[in-house]
Amino acid sequence: FCERRNVIGMDEKGFLQPTETVVADSDLLKKKLDALRFSGPQKLQVIADFDATLTRYWIDGCRGQTSHGLLKQGNPEYDTKRDELYKYYHPLEYSPTISREEKTKLMEEWWGKSHSLLIEGGLTFDAIKQSVTAATIAFREGVVELFELLEEKGVPVLIFSAGLADIIEEVLRQKLHRSFKNIRIVSNRMVFDDNGCLVSFKGKTIHSLNKNEHALDMAAPLHDQLGDVDGTINDSASVRKRTNVLLLGDHIGDLGMSDGLNYDTRISVGFLNDNIENSLDSYRNAFDVVYLNDASMLGVVKLVRQLFP
Ligand code: TMP
Repeated sequence: FCERRNVIGMDEKGFLQPTETVVADSDLLKKKLDALRFSGPQKLQVIADFDATLTRYWIDGCRGQTSHGLLKQGNPEYDTKRDELYKYYHPLEYSPTISREEKTKLMEEWWGKSHSLLIEGGLTFDAIKQSVTAATIAFREGVVELFELLEEKGVPVLIFSAGLADIIEEVLRQKLHRSFKNIRIVSNRMVFDDNGCLVSFKGKTIHSLNKNEHALDMAAPLHDQLGDVDGTINDSASVRKRTNVLLLGDHIGDLGMSDGLNYDTRISVGFLNDNIENSLDSYRNAFDVVYLNDASMLGVVKLVRQLFP
């Protein structure tokens, strides 16, 4: 679906205007940057949300799809039902006027209904691969450079998503064309039966407002979920010793991703993609740096390069 909106940064013809960066407290940001530089890359870890943070919000004038949204179950009736849920709940997810408590209930409802439909409607692993190939999804410009730079500096990246781990892995496989030793994923993971059909989800559901409750999962032993992770960069003991955090998100709830980590210094970067007029104040107060207008990741690449030349 395409729903080009008239947001700040898009002129009347729909062309994107240059990115804007908003920093509420530049002295504080400078202090935090100095602290990260002083401690070095061996003390840093990056925690990044996936949908609309690593991926673009707009793609050729259409909304980029989320890991949930790109799925085609091979069962149009169920795809339509999940689309209807998206149209109802997604505006509520970003509404600046609904209380956090109320919103949490709504998000539990949405994820519960959506995951049940995926099971009921019959999803196979093959359908996942095909859905990703056909999807409107793309990484922000600069994401590959960022991953390469962090890998070179030995900095682990945790992708912490309320989306679907199995889809995110397939997107990484298909769209990045290479694997990274330093990337780990914490997200909702599917369980398939011997015929490759989805039968359930592992553990407690992660939705966009309860990431804080799952933050400690990052420090848990790695088990089987961590396909291609190099034990020296990204094992749980080493991640716990990394007391500085660079957090990337697009939702205020993403700030909870680092809860329970006991970090010394955290720099938070927020991508404010839509509804800018109404949300800018809360984003400016919540994140150290806010990028407007579906910005690229190049600002973050520059920031990391300046820290560790
Ligand atoms: P994130 O934590 O990677 O941002 O992923 C969560 C996004 O997934 C959130 O913005 C809502 C979206 N979503 C869908 O698009 N469809 C769904 O069925 C559900 C449950 C969530």
